[in-house]
Amino acid sequence: MTTVLVLNGPNLSRLGSREPDVYGSQDLDTLRTVLVADAADRATIEVRQTDDEGQLIHWLHEAVDSSTPVILNPAAFTHYSYGLRDAAAMVTKAGIPLIEVHISNPHARETFRHTSVISGVATGVIAGFGFDSYRLALKAVIGLN
Ligand code: DQA
Repeated sequence: MTTVLVLNGPNLSRLGSREPDVYGSQDLDTLRTVLVADAADRATIEVRQTDDEGQLIHWLHEAVDSSTPVILNPAAFTHYSYGLRDAAAMVTKAGIPLIEVHISNPHARETFRHTSVISGVATGVIAGFGFDSYRLALKAVIGLN
């Protein structure tokens, strides 16, 4: 069965308590439960989170080496991490889907959030639908495989 890596960047471990007006009141465990249910017997879901840019980059290398599709919420790294962009490019240049997701709609927020250095190398981008951003990305990934 296909594995889908669901990678989350800095501060997303605090989902549920962090700015619930922006990110909702559900936590990462709930996200995992929802995605596992959506995937049913079509994919194995592996949800991970780190505050560490290097760790996120290593996980993308792992995705390349194992040909594993990725759903990536790069969080604040979205806006400035060229290292993460280069790693994401390795994934998509290898022909592996990488969907960038955001819970909020960064374009409706502060100006610094309007730039994503990841989008240009992502397979696609889904933002602004709360946890449903991940669910839509999973649909795309499963549909693409
Ligand atoms: C986010 C949006 C980013 O601007 C922010 O830094 C995050 C979360 C989102 O999911 O809406 O941490 O990626």
